Amino acid sequence: MTGSSRAAAAPPVGEVLVDWYATAARDLPWRAQGVAPWAVLVSEVMLQQTPVARVEPVWRSWMARWPTPADLAAAPPADVIRAWGRLGYPRRALRLREAAAAIAERHGGVVPDDVAALEALPGIGTYTARAVACFGYGQRQPVVDTNVRRVVTRLVHGRAEAGNARAANLPDVAALAPQDDARAVRFSVAVMELGALLCVAGTPRCGGCPVRDRCAWRLAGYPPHEGPRRPVQKFAGTDRQVRGRLLDVLRAADAPVTVEALAATWDDAVQRSRCLDSLLIDDLVEQTPDGLFTLPA
Ligand code: ADE
Repeated sequence: MTGSSRAAAAPPVGEVLVDWYATAARDLPWRAQGVAPWAVLVSEVMLQQTPVARVEPVWRSWMARWPTPADLAAAPPADVIRAWGRLGYPRRALRLREAAAAIAERHGGVVPDDVAALEALPGIGTYTARAVACFGYGQRQPVVDTNVRRVVTRLVHGRAEAGNARAANLPDVAALAPQDDARAVRFSVAVMELGALLCVAGTPRCGGCPVRDRCAWRLAGYPPHEGPRRPVQKFAGTDRQVRGRLLDVLRAADAPVTVEALAATWDDAVQRSRCLDSLLIDDLVEQTPDGLFTLPA
């Protein structure tokens, strides 16, 4: 640049992220043009606690089998729990079926496009409602998941990790969105992608970040997290693992099984029995009149 020319104003962060997304985004099936809002809703529920690679095949077969909310609402719970496979947190499968039933009954089978109506559906919270309104219906909406929260905490607030104040990030994200509505929609998924690919938990990959020169955390010299550490979620030995093993047996069985058949899943009988009870309470397992165990009809 010559001395006489003035530096052009840097484009807004939101615009930079949308341009970066165009070059860096993963090609994921629920992001394709013309994907129905119902398919977006299913993907968002599956993606909440499960990585993309595990979700993708399950989502594809799920959408082929139950292409509309009415299809899923009519399916027996056992089929739904089986099709959920090993995505984990299987109560999500039953909640999704309940949401499908509510959409079929209250909304004539059409996924609502209004955030309040979406939030009134079983199992649909702040995040999922806005994700469906934004990615399914093309609305300008702040969509804040864990990845987005981390990006905003670093980029805007100069801190390493988000605290627990979840809703507080909605206005921050809305303020960064581009003026143009279509670009604002892409911005919502772009921030999510930045958090998934570069601005990851632990050591971020700032070398490839398109907004590293504007990142408050980087400019402050990466101050470390000060609050309490979030405990790393373990899986081995937890009730979640045991419940998963019990469900694996029941998913594979084509008839109700005895309690003895479930004993091979886990040595600790107290924990095993506690987990079986909790599956019964969650309506993920049913006991037959003759005392056998099965997925709910
Ligand atoms: N694209 C849209 N929503 C997404 C999500 N939750 N995870 C990954 N990619 C997405």
